[in-house]
Amino acid sequence: MNRGRLITIEGIDGAGKTTLAAGLLEALLARGIEVELLREPGGVPAAERIRELVMDPNLHVAARTEALLYAGARAQLVEEAIEPRLSRGTWLLLDRFIDSSLAYQGAGRRLGIDAVRAINEFAIRTAWPDRTLLLLIDPRLGRSRSRSRTAAPDRLERERDDFFERTVHAYLELWSQDPERIRKIDAGDPPEEVLAAALRELADLL
Ligand code: TMP
Repeated sequence: MNRGRLITIEGIDGAGKTTLAAGLLEALLARGIEVELLREPGGVPAAERIRELVMDPNLHVAARTEALLYAGARAQLVEEAIEPRLSRGTWLLLDRFIDSSLAYQGAGRRLGIDAVRAINEFAIRTAWPDRTLLLLIDPRLGRSRSRSRTAAPDRLERERDDFFERTVHAYLELWSQDPERIRKIDAGDPPEEVLAAALRELADLL
């Protein structure tokens, strides 16, 4: 049995990841691919509990704690949901994965991409994404989109603009280090064009 493919969707808040994930799920199912969509942080009960903790605006969570919590939620998701599905041939679409931690905690929180990569390699073991779709949008536009969506921003959404600028910069650095895995997509385009671009970037896997 062929191992399933792990496809991740990345980008800052308000880039349209959730819309693209829903569109891709439908498009892949229509091609007869057995595929499921999972979200990070969360996706399985223990990881959802960690999500509540890490996103709670009323808690003080230190940067290193935050990185470890995201990695912990990820380890649980890999163990309980990702590995079993990939090994039985199911494809997975993930709304955020390891690159979110590299960009947000590594650069946004200034913990260093290499340090955050090390704890995440421990967490995910061999479950590296086969392809990563990086949605790029002007950070200010992304922020205004995500603000208009939620009345109560979570702990991360309350960060200042320079946090998001560092995060976007890190995403681009990750892309430049591995353009074969990470593919950039202009998220300022209408949703149907973003979906078409995403399918082009997956064409060799389909
Ligand atoms: P979401 O809004 O896409 O569900 O993501 C929740 C927030 O968590 C978002 O602000 C990005 C942040 N995040 C990290 O900082 N590091 C991570 O590893 C992940 C998965 C999310």
